[in-house]
Amino acid sequence: MGESPAFSLQAGEEFKTRTGSISISPLLLSPGVALLTHLEVVPWMRNQGIGTALLWAAEERLLADGHDQVALGVGLDNPDALRLYVRRGYAEWPHGEVATTDVVYHPNGGLELRPELCRILVRKLG
Ligand SMILES: CC(C)(COP(=O)(O)OP(=O)(O)OC[C@H]1O[C@@H](n2cnc3c(N)ncnc32)[C@H](O)[C@@H]1OP(=O)(O)O)[C@@H](O)C(=O)NCCC(=O)NCCS
Repeated sequence: MGESPAFSLQAGEEFKTRTGSISISPLLLSPGVALLTHLEVVPWMRNQGIGTALLWAAEERLLADGHDQVALGVGLDNPDALRLYVRRGYAEWPHGEVATTDVVYHPNGGLELRPELCRILVRKLG
């Protein structure tokens, strides 16, 4: 990997590098359980470990901030992301899938909201 996100993260709720980003939701899933959203790596830099590194960096930040678990949603049609999360120790919660809204940003600046059914995955921190 040509860039270490751990050294180029910006403080704040969105961790953003030149090659990808991940956000920490201002909402908690439940007390102590933080919610990560919008993990994305630019298409031409995928499969080089950047997504895993961004996830790791966000988890470290949440642990340092005193959270003991982290949760995230993954669309039923996204097996690539699901593999990444399972490899990092995430497991599906026992309450079933959840109807969410995916925000799609179009190149012309337009925003589209699409209903998306998600699995919710959870991992203990530390
Ligand atoms: C899901 C996503 C964030 C993954 O990002 P990524 O940077 O490609 O993730 P990684 O590189 O850490 O892991 C992806 C694969 O590359 C492999 N890999 C990691 N480092 C590698 C390296 N140096 N050389 C070869 N392969 C490598 C991983 O083992 C993994 O393999 P797998 O596909 O068999 O599981 C990216 O595909 C993406 O932005 N998708 C669109 C948005 C999206 O779906 N986000 C998730 C929402 S829940």
